Amino acid sequence: MMTTQEVRDVLQRRDFSPASLMALLGTRGEAMEALFQEAELFRHRISGRKVYLRGLVELSNRCAKDCYYCGVRRSNDTVARYSVRPEEVVNAALFARDHGFASMVLQSGERSDRHFVREVSLLLEEIHRHTGGELHITRSMGEQSRQTYKEWYDLGAHRYLLRIEASDPELYARLHPDDGLHRYEDRVESLLLLKDVGYQTGTGVMIGLPFQRLEHLAADLLFFRTMDIDMVGMGPYIEHEQTPLYVHRQLIPDKETRFLLSMKMVALLRLMMPDINIAATTAMQTIQEGGREFALKVGANVVMPNLTPTKYRENYLLYKDKPGIDQDAEDTTESLTRMIHAAGLEVALNEWGDSMHFRKRTNY
Ligand code: 5AD
Repeated sequence: MMTTQEVRDVLQRRDFSPASLMALLGTRGEAMEALFQEAELFRHRISGRKVYLRGLVELSNRCAKDCYYCGVRRSNDTVARYSVRPEEVVNAALFARDHGFASMVLQSGERSDRHFVREVSLLLEEIHRHTGGELHITRSMGEQSRQTYKEWYDLGAHRYLLRIEASDPELYARLHPDDGLHRYEDRVESLLLLKDVGYQTGTGVMIGLPFQRLEHLAADLLFFRTMDIDMVGMGPYIEHEQTPLYVHRQLIPDKETRFLLSMKMVALLRLMMPDINIAATTAMQTIQEGGREFALKVGANVVMPNLTPTKYRENYLLYKDKPGIDQDAEDTTESLTRMIHAAGLEVALNEWGDSMHFRKRTNY
């Protein structure tokens, strides 16, 4: 077990070798506190106190994939499937713009059929028409062809999130069916495609999965760096009863351990990649009250208030106990702003909040 002094020494040397990362991820007590302190200092020095807001709309829970961990997987026939209507999305976009968010995230189940691609394209056009192109739009809609990525890019959506979920190919294979639709290589290829098309590209993983070891998490951090990623959204795995992975629930660490592991991941990533955008995710808040604030303190700089119309939310339960199902946009935004101020941070309004990393990478 690492001592406080060892933690400080390793971080001072910026030694992010797999062995050091594993040791840092395994810290507890005072040594872990030292890691959090260093990350907090670093966050303030590099990105100040700013927190960027992205309005999130969970567009549709229709999904062609069947991931073993996800509550809205194709085979879960207890879920009522929905798609938010275009005018409701436009309303959410106007809300985001009027509240100074400057940016929104459109997320949905993974589909790549022509109909879906076309609908998303039309939606992007609608949003731009109504907001005068003022909003930056991030999509989180899974693996698509180069042509689709290009089509959406040309419609002005320049950011894309595609979680690798687990950067270790064997672990990935244990979390997904082997049906030709869930290939690790395809997922990596998609990330490369996104970067090639010109997107600010985000990825992420789940933390505290069955079969996952500290060496996997260390490898995840190094994967983000090797892939030279611009944004990361990651969070604790939370079991869902109506999924196949639920039978392995006795293999997952307890909630506190999953939460602290997630915070150590954020802290380390901030130290390793000073200028990327890191999200404080809903799952962090689900597993621990105050979890998002904690993440923001130790290195996250993005929060995504949920702007999905409330009537749909109970059908977008990727995992158990997801909070805010009955909070409307106004409520969510207010409580988030209060929370950000309470954490001694400030909301950056009317700023696009591009990843500084991406700016450097492209010199734009
Ligand atoms: N626990 C935590 N996160 C989950 N996701 C899906 N299912 C779960 C779960 N049970 C995450 C995945 C996906 C994102 C939209 O939600 O990482 O990419």
